[in-house]
Amino acid sequence: MTEMLNDVFGQDTRTKAQQLIARYPQSRSALLPMLHLVQSVEGFVSQDGIRFCAEQLELTTAEVSAVATFYTMYKRKPCGEHLVSVCTNTLCAALGGDAIYARLKEELGSDGKPLGHEQTSEDGKVTLEHAECLAACDLGPVLQVNYEYFDNQDPDTASDLVAKLRAGERPAPTRGAPLTDFKQAELQLAGFFEGRDLDVAGPSAAKETLRGNTVAQDRGWSAPVMPDGVLPPVPEKKK
Ligand code: FES
Repeated sequence: MTEMLNDVFGQDTRTKAQQLIARYPQSRSALLPMLHLVQSVEGFVSQDGIRFCAEQLELTTAEVSAVATFYTMYKRKPCGEHLVSVCTNTLCAALGGDAIYARLKEELGSDGKPLGHEQTSEDGKVTLEHAECLAACDLGPVLQVNYEYFDNQDPDTASDLVAKLRAGERPAPTRGAPLTDFKQAELQLAGFFEGRDLDVAGPSAAKETLRGNTVAQDRGWSAPVMPDGVLPPVPEKKK
């Protein structure tokens, strides 16, 4: 069994697994990043991936499966080169997220059949999913590609974006890190940046998100004293 797993998860992955384990007092705490590591190799959490995590962390495969099947970021089927997540939660849906999702389903489908949730286009380029609130409601409708944000979308801009992805382009997200692919993004989620350390320094906040801060700075407002006597930081006055 171990030999079979060695074929799938080579020495580099095993070294990274040991580095992850070393970050925690108890090895089992490394399970979440370990599942991302597995996805960076295979593009999903396969049965081999579950066995690999169990073996590395001295857990049972049932324990690993229980975690892998609980969180939607762990995929049970191979992902395409890119994962496109369209927010269809209430606010984005009302602003056009449902229309975006419907359009992409049609355009990514084949033989007259629309693509379904977590299905991959025939060319293997894009896996489509509808997602719950992506925590960017002030910028809706939003979608993510490999978890990077594309804000204020509509069916035409989303269609154009996906066409570019299928043509091999990597359009710049509205904010955040430059686009990679799903497997590379999973490696980063596992905590390995491999020469892309500056990705985490990409601008993550939109000006709409910071509007309240800006107003407070302009007016010299600060939050009241906390009950434990700790003063909140006073925002710097804008020049
Ligand atoms: S509802 Fe879409 S980001 Fe919150």
